[in-house]
Amino acid sequence: MGKVIILNGSPRAPKSNSKMYSEIFVKKFKDNCDYFNINNRNHEQLIKTIKDNNYSDLVFAFPLYADAVPVGLLKFLKELEKANIENRPTISIMINCGFYEPKQNDIAIRIMKVFAKKTGYKYGSTLKIASGEGTPSTFFKYFLFRKIKKFAISIRNKKYQDFVYTMPISRKLFLKASTIYWTRYGKRNGISKKEMSTMLIEDK
Ligand SMILES: Cc1cc2nc3c(=O)[nH]c(=O)nc-3n(C[C@H](O)[C@H](O)[C@H](O)COP(=O)(O)O)c2cc1C
Repeated sequence: MGKVIILNGSPRAPKSNSKMYSEIFVKKFKDNCDYFNINNRNHEQLIKTIKDNNYSDLVFAFPLYADAVPVGLLKFLKELEKANIENRPTISIMINCGFYEPKQNDIAIRIMKVFAKKTGYKYGSTLKIASGEGTPSTFFKYFLFRKIKKFAISIRNKKYQDFVYTMPISRKLFLKASTIYWTRYGKRNGISKKEMSTMLIEDK
């Protein structure tokens, strides 16, 4: 078994879904997996860790932001591109988005694949998670956890593969349930459904 590093590129890393999903992943590797959050101050340290540990695999766990990669992760990728790493680990990604359709993640996955190709890293497995915000509060999380374990095993066995998860309900039901969820969430924070529907919320 090779050694794996998993880097969390969520801007809310310590409280993120990406962290929860990474913890499931790590369990499949026991002592052979190191986990770190990416932040604006630790790029140099993370790159040194990658250089010093001869990892076989590097996994990026991150959310979809505006159909793309969060800016904090992009900044880290720019630093990684410049770093002179001799034994480059194989890059895999575990991406999660809020919407129901897994294909929402496709542009960000392409960005990561282009990064790997241009910078001389091999590309491994992908786990494409949709309804990643809603799933943890439901029983369906166990279906997702099973996919994460399969994703981890594919990396452990070097049998790289693509995996997809979304909540196993119809799109219509997902929309209904998520509308109720976000309306209640807004109410708890003093924001009405009407206010949430306007583009002016951030201007207030
Ligand atoms: C600024 C911002 C932009 C987002 N953009 C998208 C998006 O384009 N498509 C989508 O499906 N989800 C989008 N989401 C939802 C997140 O991908 C989703 O909540 C995810 O589970 C967050 O993961 P994390 O807790 O690991 O950060 C966005 C969330 C935020 C805060």
